[in-house]
Amino acid sequence: MQPHVLITGGSGFIGRNVTRCLLQHGIRVRILDTTEPPSDLASEVEWVQGCILLQKPLQAALDGCTDVIHLAAELGIGRSQAEPLRFFEVNVQGTVHLLDTLQKTHHRVRRVVLAGSMTVYGEGRYVCPGCGEAGPVQRRPDRLVQKQWEPCCTRCERDLVSRPTPETFPAQAANIYAHTKLSQEGILHLLAEQAGIEPVVLRLFNVYGPGQSLENAYTGVIAIFTSCLLMEIAPLVFEDGNQRRDFVFVEDVSEAFYRAWATPGIGGRTFNIGSGEGHSLNEILGLLRGLTAGRASPRILYQYRKGDARHVVACTENSLSGLGWSPRTPLGEGLGRTVRSAREDIRTPLNLEKMMGELRRRGILLEQGASAAVSRSNA
Ligand code: UD1
Repeated sequence: MQPHVLITGGSGFIGRNVTRCLLQHGIRVRILDTTEPPSDLASEVEWVQGCILLQKPLQAALDGCTDVIHLAAELGIGRSQAEPLRFFEVNVQGTVHLLDTLQKTHHRVRRVVLAGSMTVYGEGRYVCPGCGEAGPVQRRPDRLVQKQWEPCCTRCERDLVSRPTPETFPAQAANIYAHTKLSQEGILHLLAEQAGIEPVVLRLFNVYGPGQSLENAYTGVIAIFTSCLLMEIAPLVFEDGNQRRDFVFVEDVSEAFYRAWATPGIGGRTFNIGSGEGHSLNEILGLLRGLTAGRASPRILYQYRKGDARHVVACTENSLSGLGWSPRTPLGEGLGRTVRSAREDIRTPLNLEKMMGELRRRGILLEQGASAAVSRSNA
């Protein structure tokens, strides 16, 4: 059977890259998205314009397809706490709708690959230097107010040390976005058999690269910092900037989706898609300041954005052995390409003041008198 892959949410940052990757592998692609087709893809893919929550466009999109890559979702921890209903509608209901439609129709779909998220690991895996494995941890508000950012051991109160998180680590949803991503996974596994499909989940770590929005103050931190530095706006840094993330380049992520589609015998499995390396925001800022020659100094807010994890890094053994996948793009090269592309694309400065105002109004910041720093940074 000639492969014909449906990508839901295919016009987004990750979706466009996954589409290009599948096309390069000679696979026929159809996209279901609420937007019009972008000019660079219009002639190469089939396009169904519509919302995943609506029956007609979803059925039209699924008609004749052999596999689905399910990317259609609202994203971001900050925004999810401000718009919980929208996040549950699109992410949870959208996934139920996809599986329910497959269950009720005669289809040819073999596999559904879901874009999951590392946000389901909460704070991720830690060990205590004295007591060993810490299990799932939560950061205590009384410590966060004292600017003690590291999670501590519940037994001896020493600061814990972050370790790469494997897929077997117990999932815990510490914010609305994480709840919706965990629900998506659960629904996919629960309804897979009835729907007659093989479920595969890729838990994406912090994806970055050219094409990520430069005008959305709630997008990934690398895009935000790049945008700020090119526009000479001071980047705002939550906590102290020493929190670490596992940044993975979007083209490598696209290749992981291709492998998740192509690899036989992986139905029912979940894979971390990250680099396996942690980099602090301060390190990222240093590299980006060099690449952009941006002069604006970052403002360290010493404020906690509710729902944020401290350090999360992928254990990548399973994706290497199961998918034969490991990322190819070193951080320096990925950031360089991101900055070069951003220089061409950037139009309007980010409104960080508005974003901070929204977070504050909705009680998403653990307040400790950083308002002065914020207003200074946007002066
Ligand atoms: C990100 C994605 C999420 C995805 C996850 C794993 C976004 C918005 N979030 O979550 O959808 O599931 O990776 O792929 O793309 N920060 C600042 N200043 C800013 C913005 C962020 O200091 O202006 C900090 C945050 O407080 C956090 C870190 O940067 O400590 C990373 O934040 P963010 O880029 O939003 O990513 P995640 O929340 O890790």
